[in-house]
Amino acid sequence: MTTTNLIEFDETNQTFHLHNASISYLIGLDKGGFVSHLYFGRRIQHYHGQLKNPRRDRGFSDNLPGSKDRAFSLDFLLQEYSSKGDGDFRSSAAIIRQTDGTRSAFFTYDHYVIEWGKPKLAGLPAAYVEDPAEAQTLSLFLTDQPSGLTVILKYTIYRDRNVIARSTELVNQGKTTVAIEKLASMQLDLPAQSKQVISLPGAHVNERHLERAEINFGRKIFESRRGTTSHQMNNFIAVCDPDTNEFQGEVYGFNLVYSGNHQEEIEKDQFGALRILAGINPDQFDWELKPTARFQTPEVLLSYSATGLNGLSATLHALLRERVARSKFKAQPRPILVNNWEATFWNFNEPKLREIVDDAKNLGLEMFVLDDGWFGHRDKDDSSLGDWHVSEKKFPQGLAHFSKYVHQQGLQFGLWVEPEMISLDSDLYRQHPDYMLRVPGREPSVSREQFVLDLGRKAVRENVHQQLKAILDHCQIEYIKWDMNRHITDVYSAALPAHRQGEVLHRYVLGLYQLLEELTTEYPDILWEGCSGGGGRFDTGLMYYMPQSWVSDNTDAIARLQIQTGTSLAYPLSSMESHVSVSPNQQTGRMASFETRGHVAMSGVLGYELDLTKMTPTEKAIVKKQIALYKEIRMTVQYGQFIRLVHTNNRYAWMFVNSDKTDVVVFSFKILSEAQPDFKILKLAGLAPERLYRNATTNEVMGGDELMLTGFYEENQAEDFSSAIYHLVAVD
Ligand code: GLA
Repeated sequence: MTTTNLIEFDETNQTFHLHNASISYLIGLDKGGFVSHLYFGRRIQHYHGQLKNPRRDRGFSDNLPGSKDRAFSLDFLLQEYSSKGDGDFRSSAAIIRQTDGTRSAFFTYDHYVIEWGKPKLAGLPAAYVEDPAEAQTLSLFLTDQPSGLTVILKYTIYRDRNVIARSTELVNQGKTTVAIEKLASMQLDLPAQSKQVISLPGAHVNERHLERAEINFGRKIFESRRGTTSHQMNNFIAVCDPDTNEFQGEVYGFNLVYSGNHQEEIEKDQFGALRILAGINPDQFDWELKPTARFQTPEVLLSYSATGLNGLSATLHALLRERVARSKFKAQPRPILVNNWEATFWNFNEPKLREIVDDAKNLGLEMFVLDDGWFGHRDKDDSSLGDWHVSEKKFPQGLAHFSKYVHQQGLQFGLWVEPEMISLDSDLYRQHPDYMLRVPGREPSVSREQFVLDLGRKAVRENVHQQLKAILDHCQIEYIKWDMNRHITDVYSAALPAHRQGEVLHRYVLGLYQLLEELTTEYPDILWEGCSGGGGRFDTGLMYYMPQSWVSDNTDAIARLQIQTGTSLAYPLSSMESHVSVSPNQQTGRMASFETRGHVAMSGVLGYELDLTKMTPTEKAIVKKQIALYKEIRMTVQYGQFIRLVHTNNRYAWMFVNSDKTDVVVFSFKILSEAQPDFKILKLAGLAPERLYRNATTNEVMGGDELMLTGFYEENQAEDFSSAIYHLVAVD
């Protein structure tokens, strides 16, 4: 084991230096035991301790209690973690309601622990290490003397990744019960400077657009209050310099490893300094903490790139693939599947599905996924959620019988489930009405005619677990698509007293994680896929259990360009399930060629979502070719480095390079045709400059440096929604 430390404490200067070959993070112990933030960015080779937070007597900035030093105020100190009532008027990381009803807490430094490796977070997903030498963890213990509360700030720095994983734990070492109103996972204070923020807002069928905005004075909040990550605002943000682009400039990334209500805040204070906070959304959150109890926040993966947004994505893609996803499939080629949803919706029977399966086999597909409608008496979305037993009407000989047929055709079998939900028309509801989240005395709000189960309760989880187990043990199933098709309202649990109803939403997420932990451990050979009405729960937390997710219910190739671009900023391509569907598209009515639809879907984990039996022989021939081609390029697409080359209103281009830079796949897309187009040059990136590359279609050979520096002119295709693929293979 290498023993070069990644974290050092400098006694003289009272500073902690977390570093690897590329990044440094500096923390200082300041007057009164306050822990100040000094620096996060590129690696500093020799830190001599000269950097201290400046002081000044400023009006209306309070000084430390009992202190006559008017130049020292927490109101402008860059801190590692802030609380209320200590003179810092900016947004607080921690808000704790003390027994006396006040919210004052002064967390000051007590001691530190440095250890190799990365401890697990109780009950929560988190990045991990496979060998303790991969990372080192610093825990800073801060206490609030009067209440006996201790905050533990945890920082793990990886040796070979530009990432610091951060989280916070609150321990009640006092004698009385307190309530947590807010406990951010991390705080990053940056000195005054001009910065921009990139977020991933959206809507159902329109997720994760890249939005970039100035950070002005005041507070900017990105959040979900929907009980889950949401389509509306993903829990990833990036903060960058105004001139940062895809290839150059500084950028910080913040991935919250969580699947519930989240909040990312940026406050530009009166002096231009920035405070960035991320964690569980305090909205509808209130957590009772009894003496000796602990509360662990979710983790934030704090990443840094000095080489633009592509550099940040490369770090995150590798981290999420290799040290967040735990599935045995995390580095395996993902199957090319056909899903019957857009082909049949709920209207199918076994003979119809068999026809699709037969065609799937002939086209070279690898898996058939049976979507919604196979259970209870579900012929539309108004019943049977909660009753996970097969519909005898649709499968008179049972599901195992159909699964056997699928396997006999040489395909794997996948199944859709939505275990977090309940329909009023279900046996589960008739037997256990209290399993549903609903406020007593009020009509629950309806969405898709379904309601949410109280997953925070053990009995509810066990019921769902047993039902799923019965199917999984009875039937050969290689893949599960785990869906969640509404957001959470009526936040009330029959299992909690009135003063603890603020715990319901977080307990829901913890319950979900517990259930997923059990099921994914019991069934490690299943490829688990996340979904929430498409990409409503595309987040780093879920990736810990399920290495891939359905990107969006919008399968329109052109709409997907934007959605997949945004998603790729934070999430690896191996996690992005992407399907070819019919034209005109069912969500947008847009017509696009099979080729373009294929090229967009091939830029992720390829699948098909249309009635294969209705395709013309010509279309079938195209699909056959697409599948054969995808099998050739699949490892490079799913596990190579992904680089966004161009994304403008009318043009997109991106590429994939395998790890030894010998296999390169480039896709380029034009949206609307132009009468007098300019000459479009495409310059590649990430190649080995000294190597020669052969275009696998034209056999033309070009140098790696040539492809990156001069690039090549693309042929203009005189049609809307056109696309091209360039597959380049290193010569020798
Ligand atoms: C969600 C999913 C779809 C499909 C339907 C079934 O919307 O995102 O892919 O599974 O549910 O009801």
